[in-house]
Amino acid sequence: MSARAASREASRTLLHVAASSRGGASHSRAAGHHVLARLQQALGPLRVLDCDLGAMPPPHPDARMVEASLTPAQARSPAAEAALAASEQWIGQLEAADLVLLSTPVHNFTVPSALKAWIDHVVRPGRTFLSTPAGKVGLLADRPVLVVAAAGGAFEAGPGSQVDFLSPYLRAVFGCMGLTQVEVLRLENLRREPAAIEAARARLDDWSAAVAARLAAGAAGRD
Ligand SMILES: Cc1cc2nc3c(=O)[nH]c(=O)nc-3n(C[C@H](O)[C@H](O)[C@H](O)COP(=O)(O)O)c2cc1C
Repeated sequence: MSARAASREASRTLLHVAASSRGGASHSRAAGHHVLARLQQALGPLRVLDCDLGAMPPPHPDARMVEASLTPAQARSPAAEAALAASEQWIGQLEAADLVLLSTPVHNFTVPSALKAWIDHVVRPGRTFLSTPAGKVGLLADRPVLVVAAAGGAFEAGPGSQVDFLSPYLRAVFGCMGLTQVEVLRLENLRREPAAIEAARARLDDWSAAVAARLAAGAAGRD
């Protein structure tokens, strides 16, 4: 391989978790792709792992999975290990990522149910966090988590504004596993007039450029 080809090889891995079931019509998915393009411009090629929760929603944790996840690893039967196979696969994707990008709709003030099911598979006692008398301690290495959330209505103060349970919830969920560098962009009013959608696109572009530049500066500092 030539030096030029080697220098173009992806040196970092990004996990894109996409939670909308609306495929190509999804605002959050399109926003995630926009952020990804900005990151590739700033950081160079990235190896991308796609986790499409809209296309393949995780099952709700069933009794076997719940029992297995509460059983210490050394006491698990082969059947209990098998019940955790999907969970292990999703946690493995998180562990392989240098950077996590989560694009999600806002459903009823918080995360959609497919994303909640994924969370229930990856936030696991003794695996991604430890319960201690002093509280939960994350077991994953810290890394940036970028969240773009698409909402039909408004969050900013004003008529019709709504409460945001999604942003603090996702900070708590990722923080519990040890991922504390969570940045959230809320794209609002996407089911309102076209001007609101244009305004959201402009915010997205500013935010992605700023985040990408910050991550590139951090990466250069470490090189
Ligand atoms: C089940 C459901 C619940 C929703 N709840 C909210 C809500 O609480 N607040 C809001 O602003 N929009 C809500 N919406 C609108 C979506 O957030 C909006 O359509 C957004 O664009 C969805 O993201 P997507 O385009 O990536 O699928 C809801 C939509 C659905 C289908």
